[in-house]
Amino acid sequence: MTFLEAIRAFAHDSAVAIVVTDAKNEKPGPIILYANEAFGRLAGRPVAEVIGISPRFMQGRETRRPVLDTFAQALAAGERFHGYLTNYRGDRTKYVVEIDCRPLRNAAGNIEYFLAFEREVARRRGRPWGGVLSRFEAVDVSDASLTSGIRMLDAFTP
Ligand SMILES: Cc1cc2nc3c(=O)[nH]c(=O)nc-3n(C[C@H](O)[C@H](O)[C@H](O)COP(=O)(O)O)c2cc1C
Repeated sequence: MTFLEAIRAFAHDSAVAIVVTDAKNEKPGPIILYANEAFGRLAGRPVAEVIGISPRFMQGRETRRPVLDTFAQALAAGERFHGYLTNYRGDRTKYVVEIDCRPLRNAAGNIEYFLAFEREVARRRGRPWGGVLSRFEAVDVSDASLTSGIRMLDAFTP
């Protein structure tokens, strides 16, 4: 079973959007190699349409450049990115998405893929305390941290 087949098997029915890209950071990369149905619903595009293109297709006027720069730096450094972005669906309605993205390395230690867990979140009302992670709550998936799902991946990574 290849890595992508393994991802496909466990990500297929997940309520959390899961997307895997290649490890090329220079434009037009990273390129989407796999996305589950929940990702298609989140992005408002059929999955078949997003395979082969960059996740940048979700960006728009209110997608904050400084956050994208942080994202790009994390990818280039082979580090995890966990943050929030304003994105746009196929019909151009906007939403806030929580993204937990990390590199997946092969046995030689080289990055082969990036994998992200994504879900729509809504800004919490009032004045929450506890930093950026407490300012948003999940819209419809679950309140559990995305990170618990990503721990499963330890099974696949050296
Ligand atoms: C697995 C993965 C998922 C991503 N998902 C999103 C996303 O949902 N929304 C988004 O705006 N950017 C997403 N990106 C980030 C863009 O693809 C790109 O890396 C980012 O815009 C920074 O690169 P740039 O500075 O060249 O634009 C994702 C990247 C990866 C590797």
